[in-house]
Amino acid sequence: MCGIFGYKGRRNASPIVIEGLKKLDYRGYDSWGIGIAHEDVIHIKKDAGRIEVSREMPDLEKLPGTAGIAHTRWATHGHVTKENANPHSSNNGKIAVVHNGIIENFQEQKQFLAGQGFKFYSETDTETIPNTIEYHMRRGYDFIEAAKRSLKHLEGQYAILALDSEGKIVAVRKEAPLVVGVGKDEYFLASDVTAFIDHTKDVIFLEENDMVIIDGGLKIFNLDKNAFVKRPVSKIDWDAEQAKKGNFDHFYLKEIMEQAEVIERISNTDQKIIKEIAGEIRKAKGVYIVACGTASYASMYGLYLFSKIAKTHVNSCVASEFQYFKHFLNSKSLVIAVSQSGETADTLSAIRAAKSMGAKVVSITNVNGSSLMRESDKSILQKAGPEIAVNSTKAYTSQLAILGLLAYELSGKLGEGTEELKELSREIYYLTSENARKFVKELAEKLKDKEHIYLIGRGPQYPTALEAAHKIKEVSYIHAEAFAGGELKHGPNALITKGTPYIVFSSGETEKETINSAMEVKARGAFVVGVGPKNNEVFDFFIKVRDAGDFNSIVQIIPMQILSYQLALLRGCDPDRPRNLAKSVTVK
Ligand code: M6R
Repeated sequence: MCGIFGYKGRRNASPIVIEGLKKLDYRGYDSWGIGIAHEDVIHIKKDAGRIEVSREMPDLEKLPGTAGIAHTRWATHGHVTKENANPHSSNNGKIAVVHNGIIENFQEQKQFLAGQGFKFYSETDTETIPNTIEYHMRRGYDFIEAAKRSLKHLEGQYAILALDSEGKIVAVRKEAPLVVGVGKDEYFLASDVTAFIDHTKDVIFLEENDMVIIDGGLKIFNLDKNAFVKRPVSKIDWDAEQAKKGNFDHFYLKEIMEQAEVIERISNTDQKIIKEIAGEIRKAKGVYIVACGTASYASMYGLYLFSKIAKTHVNSCVASEFQYFKHFLNSKSLVIAVSQSGETADTLSAIRAAKSMGAKVVSITNVNGSSLMRESDKSILQKAGPEIAVNSTKAYTSQLAILGLLAYELSGKLGEGTEELKELSREIYYLTSENARKFVKELAEKLKDKEHIYLIGRGPQYPTALEAAHKIKEVSYIHAEAFAGGELKHGPNALITKGTPYIVFSSGETEKETINSAMEVKARGAFVVGVGPKNNEVFDFFIKVRDAGDFNSIVQIIPMQILSYQLALLRGCDPDRPRNLAKSVTVK
């Protein structure tokens, strides 16, 4: 939700912040803006829309100055307009700010500042920040001290970069992502490392309320401790190339194609951490999995597997609802949070609610150093590599694989689980091959003009149906809805009309009953698509995937990811940037 980027160093800042911003635009693409300090003036350029398509580009690259900030916005407060785009400057133009998150007390602050004669030119909460800093500077404090005083009084969750006209930068993180890249005589600040990985792999992961001061060198002042602190520099263990599209037209397709490799990597994962977390599950009295969106469907699959393979009962809940169930948690409870980004505000709130009740928290996350990882007692890293497309694909299947391994370890058969995953990666190479994609495209041609697509699954295939519907909606904007097969006759059958597409996931122990559901909808005129190991006369179109036993959910979702990609292309939608969505949802 919004991407922020800052640079201060020995080079011309403008091309660096523009490049950084383009890499962050998957976090929000309603509007963009940059601010560069040069000779005591901050030059600001901004507009509605995406920076990639901005007509101002040639001019932007020429802005002089070695310190700059930039922002790509996912609108929260205020419409999508040029006026509301970040950066926002103070009334005297000497301070500019970019901001990700929400300032909860901005209305009081705005009222106070208006009373002091400050004028406001946007509908945003952000604009109060540079003006609060200016307010303190008018009282005789220098920029850094004024920023410190201002930041102490902001309520909410945010990451902020403030630039003064002399090129000093102050940044703070509070429950929103912000990392520091350390180069040779230069520093980068960004919502995530993909934005500066081309320049440096040396990273500082900040703690809550750390305020970074870049004025020549870099210092970190913690606002809670009211003291300067030292934070270690870590090395990023993946490559800049992994965060690039390479020869692919879209990150979405690239990431779908990477899944064979990812699953193979997980099959070779360090078993120690799987065993440790399985140990926590065994010890706990009450286990709850919390997650949002796609990760919540992965969690739901976890329930089926824990029950079937490990004979262990766990609960799952979408993270935004979890706080309403926290009352029966105690120090023996275990909460497992699943999140690709590790920065999803709802998931972080859920674990904080759990911790407030004394529960232990473990997490499954793809981003090393994320807030979720740092706030968890233990974490398993998904190792899916950077996931850039807004729609999650490889992160989802890696979550399924990890939850599967935990279930296998709980039943004392971890070796069997890892062997199955190894086998599976070969099947995934086939499922993502050009031929397989062409075949799925034929289905996309048939479905591209439909208004509704329904999906049915039972058992572990129910979350598969939910996730497939989620993918189709997000990227092609076709209304797609999933049902547990047994539920059709309790209501959804009323929706069947002639030619309505039903995609049916049939395999294993649920096959017979799922075929029955398919027969029922077919009898009422539905167009039935089967996905599974065995064809059946009820199917009008059939996608064959091999029987992968407990990992069927992994192989069955892949043709659906490809289907959603093809539908997006055929309907003229951008598969990497679905409308109104952002990759990392850092506001509640
Ligand atoms: O980073 P997280 O896994 O916590 O993100 C959770 C959801 O926001 C995310 O899965 C979302 O549903 C994606 N757009 C799915 O494609």
